[in-house]
Amino acid sequence: MNFFFLFGVIAFLGAVQCQSVQGIYNLVARRLPQHRNNFDFCLTDFGTHSNSNQSEFDQYLVTSGPNGKIKIEGSTLSAISVGLHRYLTDVLKVDIYWYVGSQLNHTPSKLPHLGTPLRGASTVPWRYHFNTVTFSYTAAFWSWEDWELELDWLALRGVNLPLAWNGNEKFLVEVFRELGLSDSEIFDFLSGPAFQAWNRFGNIQGSWGGTLPQSWIDSQFTLQKKIVQRMVELGMTPVLPAFTGFVPRAISRVLPGAAIVNGSQWSGFPLKYTNDTFLEPSDPNFTKIQKSFIQKQLSAYGNITYIFTLDQYNENNPFSGDLGYLRNVTFNTWKSLKAADPASIWLMQGWLFFSNSAFWTNDRIKAYLGGVEEDSDMLILDLFSESQPQWQRTDSYFGKPWIWCQVHDYGGNQGIYGQLDNVTINPVQAHNSSSLVGYGLTMEGQEVGVNEIMYAILLDQAWSKSPIDSEKYFRDWVSVRYSQSRSVPNSLYSAWEIMRTTAFNNTNLTSQAVSKSILELSPNITGMVNRTGHHPTTVNYDPIKFAKAWTMMYSATRAKPSLWSNPVFQYDFVDVTRQVMANYFITLYTHLVDSWSSANAKPAAIRDAGSKLLALLSDLDKVLSTNENYLLSKWIAEARSWASGVNASSVASFYEYNARNQITLWGPDAEINDYASKSWGGLISSYYVPRWQIFVDYLLKTTPATYNYTALSDQVLSFGLGWQSDHSDSFAGVNGELPKVINEVRKSWPTIFA
Ligand SMILES: *[C@@H]1O[C@H](CO)[C@@H](O)[C@H](O)[C@H]1NC(C)=O
Ligand SMILES: *[C@@H]1O[C@H](CO)[C@@H](O)[C@H](O)[C@H]1NC(C)=O
Ligand SMILES: *[C@@H]1O[C@H](CO)[C@@H](O)[C@H](O)[C@H]1NC(C)=O
Ligand SMILES: *[C@@H]1O[C@H](CO)[C@@H](O)[C@H](O)[C@H]1NC(C)=O
Ligand SMILES: *[C@@H]1O[C@H](CO)[C@@H](O)[C@H](O)[C@H]1NC(C)=O
Ligand SMILES: *[C@@H]1O[C@H](CO)[C@@H](O)[C@H](O)[C@H]1NC(C)=O
Ligand SMILES: *[C@@H]1O[C@H](CO)[C@@H](O)[C@H](O)[C@H]1NC(C)=O
Ligand SMILES: *[C@@H]1O[C@H](CO)[C@@H](O)[C@H](O)[C@H]1NC(C)=O
Ligand SMILES: *[C@@H]1O[C@H](CO)[C@@H](O)[C@H](O)[C@H]1NC(C)=O
Ligand SMILES: *[C@@H]1O[C@H](CO)[C@@H](O)[C@H](O)[C@H]1NC(C)=O
Ligand SMILES: *[C@@H]1O[C@H](CO)[C@@H](O)[C@H](O)[C@H]1NC(C)=O
Ligand SMILES: *[C@@H]1O[C@H](CO)[C@@H](O)[C@H](O)[C@H]1NC(C)=O
Repeated sequence: MNFFFLFGVIAFLGAVQCQSVQGIYNLVARRLPQHRNNFDFCLTDFGTHSNSNQSEFDQYLVTSGPNGKIKIEGSTLSAISVGLHRYLTDVLKVDIYWYVGSQLNHTPSKLPHLGTPLRGASTVPWRYHFNTVTFSYTAAFWSWEDWELELDWLALRGVNLPLAWNGNEKFLVEVFRELGLSDSEIFDFLSGPAFQAWNRFGNIQGSWGGTLPQSWIDSQFTLQKKIVQRMVELGMTPVLPAFTGFVPRAISRVLPGAAIVNGSQWSGFPLKYTNDTFLEPSDPNFTKIQKSFIQKQLSAYGNITYIFTLDQYNENNPFSGDLGYLRNVTFNTWKSLKAADPASIWLMQGWLFFSNSAFWTNDRIKAYLGGVEEDSDMLILDLFSESQPQWQRTDSYFGKPWIWCQVHDYGGNQGIYGQLDNVTINPVQAHNSSSLVGYGLTMEGQEVGVNEIMYAILLDQAWSKSPIDSEKYFRDWVSVRYSQSRSVPNSLYSAWEIMRTTAFNNTNLTSQAVSKSILELSPNITGMVNRTGHHPTTVNYDPIKFAKAWTMMYSATRAKPSLWSNPVFQYDFVDVTRQVMANYFITLYTHLVDSWSSANAKPAAIRDAGSKLLALLSDLDKVLSTNENYLLSKWIAEARSWASGVNASSVASFYEYNARNQITLWGPDAEINDYASKSWGGLISSYYVPRWQIFVDYLLKTTPATYNYTALSDQVLSFGLGWQSDHSDSFAGVNGELPKVINEVRKSWPTIFA
């Protein structure tokens, strides 16, 4: 008998026996049900020869098998799904997208034969996804259907290491109860559903506007069981939470001798809501809690992981900067994880080393990381690698394995933005580091529109040894993205080429992330435009050149009117229209302030400039309101939908308050005002328009000599506070049709929509 035949049979039996490729068949059944019987997936050992090449990790091979089926072999489940994705995009020209959803069902009834096999190999073992805060900025109210879309997107793009935070509080409450804390002591510590990420980080404690109900915790746990099971089925290693040490203040009642310190004050929050109490890892009870916490998760979900996320000093300074102290903290934390699960690996976000680089000198980082005596027991996310990498200055984290990550987006802000050079060239250069083990996405929010391409390209970069050619990448993206319209008009390629070379190619790194539109900021006469840093308001490209991308998209609809009913095109065109209008808002704002501050200011001129600005906002609201993905009401309805039980109606109000508060005041009293602002239909009309109206009215009754920002911002804040619990108009659905609204707006603003 042929040895290779025998080997094949054994591999096949092995695959069937452990059912391990079933998850990929299930994915096909979900997304391309008509082709559920047309693929063969199989786990293959590609042989020691090629495996011995250190620069190739997961590998796949796609061929046309016998019986007309497409055969996809991979060394891991993740490799098989990337091979499948490659066939779907390169050959069938279909893909799956955030928000707008899967387009994978738009395939021919017969799968094309593959002449030349498709092969690929990852240059890194890990492809990571999520930031702890993505679970609040984007996924706070996600349903199981939202998660299914996300997980299929991640699987097909090769992610094998996703963070899995849902359900954390289920076990936190249980270990706190075991310590003897009362429910009121415990629930006083927990934060609301839109703010859990920062409670988990130990930045905040408690909840404003209501108390987190047990029903929220239970339903998130139910959701988490499905999430982690699906992750495993798709070949991912879920990263589960660990016990961090942050505890209710009342800990000293139940553990009177416990070693506790208070963390630092976060973002100006009042003491009641911050300075979280931290149980020192050197306290023997720390390990006891850690064991209980981790074992509870593993018995609820199964032995599905050995990687745990654990952050103690994220925007929260250690009690002491003493090197021995810092080393002790990590040493004891590491020991606690090992006591809970001898296989455990500690994953941490490396954000602190950038955000508080004044505290985190190299000596301190070295002492802190040194407490984990086995380098391979840690995994560091170099969180903001595209702009503020820390791996060079820390000598590759002093040998600890680390992952090159792109943040790109803060607070789910929406400016069209990219640092294409940085996310293609720099990760390849990072192979100079001997402890680089992955690439990842660590965006704060996934609210992206056309920005999705910036995430896709980094994950694809993980399968390419040289920097991806972005010109080709964009062309391929366009050819797949609008393939529902069969032949894609040339002007759509031109539109994306313009965006590639303008908004997506920021090289002036005084601005380092997705920009925010000033229309979402609390109005003032100065300090609004040209902000730099990682919450920039700069426009780092020629807005007139950018607007030509809009013109190209519009002319594509002339060439191909069916684009108007293509959901992907609708989604993208709304986003590009939004950006053009947001850019023009700066011009109108500047004009308003200039009319007011000029030596011979005339009320009529101020009034006129003010009404133009407000009219632009109303029109922008109309554009956004044509698409459910850009609606305030969607966010609110999703929040409310989680309310259940006897108090469902007041719980729904609490969830709605959380949803509204996060995207506006962010805190009971605007502690981080407008950080997570959004350009959404319904939010512009109900929130930003009234704020700018207050501003225009204020300018009409003041002069530069009498302008008083405190008086103005008091009025704006008082409006904002009222809006938090105003539940009117929460459920306005899609309002208006895109072609009609676009044509109206085009006529109203001929200067920008040429
Ligand atoms: C391993 O990868 C390197 C880098 O791409 C390549 O030059 C080399 O030929 C490969 N070796 C084998 C045995 O495949
Ligand atoms: C936990 O703390 C309590 C109260 O201070 C103490 O009695 C107990 O011995 C500690 N547990 C362990 C495992 O050290
Ligand atoms: C922590 O803060 C609380 C509340 O302000 C205070 O009562 C307590 O004494 C502080 N604990 C320590 C250890 O500093
Ligand atoms: C809270 O943290 C700040 C430092 O961020 C510190 O000055 C203050 O003393 C802390 N308060 C308590 C009660 O821990
Ligand atoms: C570190 O912990 C040990 C006990 O585990 C203790 O003896 C020592 O004083 C600690 N060092 C510092 C600097 O905290
Ligand atoms: C989980 O499984 C792995 C591999 O089989 C094993 O090494 C590890 O000890 C297990 N963990 C627990 C907590 O049982
Ligand atoms: C981005 O701009 C820089 C500087 O102008 C240029 O060198 C580079 O080729 C551009 N890259 C892309 C992807 O357009
Ligand atoms: C990002 O790319 C630019 C060129 O576009 C380069 O000047 C800069 O050094 C890169 N940034 C980092 C952090 O490597
Ligand atoms: C980069 O942006 C900053 C802030 O907008 C600006 O001052 C500077 O001139 C820009 N640099 C270049 C080279 O364009
Ligand atoms: C608002 O503008 C005034 C006047 O220029 C300035 O003094 C103040 O600092 C600005 N406020 C903020 C929050 O930027
Ligand atoms: C903002 O930057 C642009 C481009 O550099 C410049 O034309 C404009 O005058 C700046 N505006 C303000 C208010 O600084
Ligand atoms: C500015 O307005 C605030 C709030 O209304 C008021 O307290 C303050 O006295 C005013 N300042 C001046 C200089 O009028």
